[in-house]
Amino acid sequence: MQSTSIFLPNGQTVTVLPLAGDIQFRVDKSDPYCSILPPLWHVVLCVRDQHSPPGPSNGPRNAYASFKTPSLRNDNLTLRTLAATSQQTAMILWATLWWYFHQTPPDPHLTTESSIPKTGRPKGDWRLNITRQGHLANELLLSQLEQRRLITVMDSTMAPITNEEVDDEDGREIFTSQRAFWQLDPRCYLCDHSTIDGTRPCNTHSVAYYPPPPTQYILTDSVRHPTRPKPPGRGETFYTRFISSVGQSLSFRTVSLPLHVAAVPRLESTVQHTEDVNWADSASALSSDIELLHKWMNEPRVAAFWGLSGPHSIQKEYLISVMRSKHCFPVIGCWDSKPFGYFEIYWAKEDRLGKYAGTDVTDWDRGIHALVGEQQFRGNHRVRIWLSALAHFCWLADCRTQNLFLEPRVDNERFIGYIEEVGFHKQREIAFPHKQAALMIMNRETWVTPEL
Ligand SMILES: CC(C)(COP(=O)(O)OP(=O)(O)OC[C@H]1O[C@@H](n2cnc3c(N)ncnc32)[C@H](O)[C@@H]1OP(=O)(O)O)[C@@H](O)C(=O)NCCC(=O)NCCS
Repeated sequence: MQSTSIFLPNGQTVTVLPLAGDIQFRVDKSDPYCSILPPLWHVVLCVRDQHSPPGPSNGPRNAYASFKTPSLRNDNLTLRTLAATSQQTAMILWATLWWYFHQTPPDPHLTTESSIPKTGRPKGDWRLNITRQGHLANELLLSQLEQRRLITVMDSTMAPITNEEVDDEDGREIFTSQRAFWQLDPRCYLCDHSTIDGTRPCNTHSVAYYPPPPTQYILTDSVRHPTRPKPPGRGETFYTRFISSVGQSLSFRTVSLPLHVAAVPRLESTVQHTEDVNWADSASALSSDIELLHKWMNEPRVAAFWGLSGPHSIQKEYLISVMRSKHCFPVIGCWDSKPFGYFEIYWAKEDRLGKYAGTDVTDWDRGIHALVGEQQFRGNHRVRIWLSALAHFCWLADCRTQNLFLEPRVDNERFIGYIEEVGFHKQREIAFPHKQAALMIMNRETWVTPEL
């Protein structure tokens, strides 16, 4: 195992170093962020040899080898550093898992009793086992990590764990799977919850975790759908991740408008609505994002599918209509902070799609519209990354979202091919008034990880 650096979504860099049987994680001190992670922690990672002969009856059942590359089910993690609070323990475990699940994935095929070819063998989720040793021998701490959804404890009984069960690694297993890990919002872990209501503000990438809001229904254009949460604020970066395969940071922000416009509160009262009309009509609303959209929509490649080429007024009017939408918000994607594409994330039920797709769309399903405007950021390898990152955001944003949709025109064959590579499949075709669309769907259950 080689020393490496990991880049956390809150901007912190952590150096990971093998050290005499342990793995050391050291937070980069030159980091401009005020670190809420402990400066240093150690873990032990070893690989269980399932084929070793059983040990003595009161001794460990399996032999262990030191970690080199991940295995599907046999890697065991022991936390060696005691953090000050359970939230800090969750942080260091989360950051350790972030590093681990960036490793090259192991072969997903499970072993079977009968000898069948590998290609026909069942596939399993990639899991990292967490041992009940070291500081995690503490049942209270374990249950706090479980409450934070960071670990899965295969134990739905009330009975306390016995000494024999502690030794038996197959009974009442504790693990984090790759699939579960990528459905955990980093902002829940890279945050010191004790400071949220205190004097030190939480950093802006952090949120306190609350369960999803209660479901309440309203009608829009005769469609009954749940009330929707407010999208991220104007100009806010709501997703960011360093992508090691291209060596750049990918981020998504909502469209930005001049400051006095951004200060206008949510439109509910008549007065605020009047202000809103003003910002929409003012010359200052012709922000740099409208310039970007103007440039991109006039690319013949984009115009062929979006049909929004023409003078600034067309893109401006369009962008304002999307900002006014109650179920959709406009997004700019950036590589290393340089804008490269425009996206829309929408709730599908009350969208045009919901009206045409009928019962195929359920309450919390979302859809995505996309375009890449900048030539230097084109290519299939990047499409897979940004599309799977948008899907990642949608899964994280609401755990009730079960399906994601894209509705490319049926003749947009290249894009349809890319979408399939990310995990969508064509459900059927839909005849919209303006296009024949391929209804492409991805279910949460089939999604494992974003492109790294
Ligand atoms: C469909 C779309 C999202 C695909 O994204 P993309 O980044 O353009 O992906 P593509 O694979 O088509 O890009 C190919 C170009 O990337 C470049 N490219 C490909 N691989 C590359 C690499 N490894 N390094 C650098 N550039 C590369 C090449 O210039 C190539 O152009 P060429 O095919 O003319 O040679 C985008 O083209 C688009 O916005 N189209 C219009 C809108 C649209 O159709 N949206 C979908 C509606 S739902």
